[in-house]
Amino acid sequence: MLSVKHLIDTYSLTADDITQILDTAASFEEVNSRAIKKVPALRGRTIVNLFLEPSTRTKSSFELAEKRLSADSLSMGGSTSSVVKGESLADTIQTIDAMNVDMFICRARLAGTPQKITENTDAIVINAGDGKHQHPTQAMLDLYTIRKNFGHLDGLKVAIVGDLAHSRVCGSLAPALKTMGAHVTLVGPPTFQVDDPDWFGCPQTASLDDVVEDMDVVYMLRVQLERMEGAAIPSRREYNRLYGLDMRRVGRMKDDAIICHPGPMNRGMEINADVADCARSRILDQVNAGVLTRMAEMYLLLGGENNAVSD
Ligand code: CP
Repeated sequence: MLSVKHLIDTYSLTADDITQILDTAASFEEVNSRAIKKVPALRGRTIVNLFLEPSTRTKSSFELAEKRLSADSLSMGGSTSSVVKGESLADTIQTIDAMNVDMFICRARLAGTPQKITENTDAIVINAGDGKHQHPTQAMLDLYTIRKNFGHLDGLKVAIVGDLAHSRVCGSLAPALKTMGAHVTLVGPPTFQVDDPDWFGCPQTASLDDVVEDMDVVYMLRVQLERMEGAAIPSRREYNRLYGLDMRRVGRMKDDAIICHPGPMNRGMEINADVADCARSRILDQVNAGVLTRMAEMYLLLGGENNAVSD
């Protein structure tokens, strides 16, 4: 059992919660390698995917995870619901809730939307990314990928690089890594740094070159071009020169260090194309872990441990 009813953020999760999610996800590896990738763990449970902002990875991995757990699910988008006719979020949620659903998965442009949903339903809510606030399921797949690579999280040195201030990925990943005993360094241009210099006890620096040799994981953030409202950086080329991960910097990394990125990538900006596709890159492993960890989160939050995880 997790210590939370909903999965809204990572700073509410204990180390035991995170370990349960990662261990349960690992137990689903075998299911996902079968020819018939399906177990009856959430049979009869109803899950609503409410994606009010575009998504490729998160939406498709939740939908696959639901199918693999035999849940009944439906997906709704902002443009295909009565939200476009002016129906409020509260009315939308209460309307769906009246159909007796068990869980909402919510992606929204507005920070706080998943929390707002919890106030309008008794169903369980998972935050699939809300504005600049949080993306907890991304953090769990990131931790899964890193733990699988190194066998542990405790003591690892992780640089999170780039658009720190606009990033819900950073806001979720940094506290989760800290909870698991990793050492996090935040790297970004001054205009992208977080306001609080002691944010989650993570040191901040403006120089990637000063830290790249010392890291076990270099986690590149997507520059959130759609959230900037103005020029916070001089140019794409200048950003790439100062903060982009290129082969010259990769060549200075430790022999066993790895590269992560949540996607979607701006190739040639925060990460060069040859780096994204190189042997150190774990970007597609992260995508694969997204299905496993989202299966685990839904399974644990819906009390699936009381059901059999075999067919
Ligand atoms: N990483 C991530 O959240 O990607 P999507 O926006 O495609 O879901």
